[in-house]
Amino acid sequence: MPAEPISILKSINSGKVYPLNEVRFTSDNGELLDVIHDFERIKKQHKISKEYFFKKRVIINDQPSGGVWHFKELILPEIHDDHIISKQEGNTRLYRSKKVSSWLALKQDKFYLKHEGENPTGSFKDRGMTVAITMAKQLKQKAVTCASTGNTSASLAAYASEAELTGLVLIPKGNVAVGKISQALAYGTKTLVVNGDFDDCMRLIREAQEKLSAYPLNSINPFRLEGQKTIIWETLMQLNWNVPDWFVFPGGNLGNTSAFGKAVFEAYELGLIDRMPRFAVIQAEGASPFYKAYKNNFTGLKTEKAETIATAIKIGDPVNYTKAVRSLKWTNGIVESVTDEEILEAKAHVDSAGIGAEPASCATVAGIKKLIAAGEIKPKETVVGILTGNILKDPQVIVDYHLKKKSPLANPPYDIEAAIGEMKKFL
Ligand code: F0G
Repeated sequence: MPAEPISILKSINSGKVYPLNEVRFTSDNGELLDVIHDFERIKKQHKISKEYFFKKRVIINDQPSGGVWHFKELILPEIHDDHIISKQEGNTRLYRSKKVSSWLALKQDKFYLKHEGENPTGSFKDRGMTVAITMAKQLKQKAVTCASTGNTSASLAAYASEAELTGLVLIPKGNVAVGKISQALAYGTKTLVVNGDFDDCMRLIREAQEKLSAYPLNSINPFRLEGQKTIIWETLMQLNWNVPDWFVFPGGNLGNTSAFGKAVFEAYELGLIDRMPRFAVIQAEGASPFYKAYKNNFTGLKTEKAETIATAIKIGDPVNYTKAVRSLKWTNGIVESVTDEEILEAKAHVDSAGIGAEPASCATVAGIKKLIAAGEIKPKETVVGILTGNILKDPQVIVDYHLKKKSPLANPPYDIEAAIGEMKKFL
């Protein structure tokens, strides 16, 4: 009798099962798919434990590698190492900051910022991309696509180049930060600027999958989420597998919300953690369909026309809604929304602490501030905020902020003559 497969695709509600090597993104009745692994077998094979991951050494492409593939047996257990397309993603820092924690009135030794902007292309997307592009190759796909507010396109472009696959990215006209467009162009992918918003681009990508056989690398692709689980596992390892009270992060298409829920659920199932952390998902007020659905006890998602300065999360019709609701149920999670002004203020604090992150990432910190004020997050609790993208992704927002006199933390440049007396005035 052939052995049962160790990993399968499974629809999230009705539990319909499909083989891992079938190219599909939803079940026959349109449900999202999970990648499900047989953890009982994996646990026995590898003696999975906290210590196992502390002691483990991983070599990929002849180089010692932590990060995403440190957890290979919980992501794609059967992939041959030589078939992995990786840029050593992950291994990002977990910062403590005196300045930011004092602004938030949190204890310095209980507040952490996990900086996913330190990935190869400057955002957390690389963690999912290494897994999904590896699968694209395994599934013998020729062309990979995505709809993007910028970071996914930058990541896809870099990995498609490495994998020698044709890349095609769709971005909404006038709504993608310059750092991100530059990356897509520079890494050599075909960039299509769509006269529409992100949600229009996403619709096109789903149609292109059916009609043009173009393989989507958006977070609707369940392999993307397998890679993004490692943001949580890596953080937990950095905290000695001690579970923080809160993980706080921004929500757009809700891929991270979905992946993080799966990560803590699986860590609990595997005995790596002994309690569940709580999640707080932060949305920009002008792009907050998930927040509104939360307020209505998740009776349904009402899509909306999105508007926010944090273009990365300018999304009104999140594709991972049902998985994200599940994550919040697992983690007794909450959703908050913050204004663009609150995002910019939080960003000025994160930036001036010498850490820095793009606007969407700083929704995290603005959300923490608001949740502390509301008494949801208690001053003594341990909080991990996820910074999702690099400060250099969106330089225009920074320059605009600092050139405006009314910005509370404005730090404008000054023109001077080339004379020492001019310099002296500033010391
Ligand atoms: N933060 C940044 C910097 C992002 O680029 C994104 C999503 C998010 C947060 C939201 O994450 O979708 O998992 O809820 N960016 C996508 C893109 C949509 O196309 O780059 P999510």
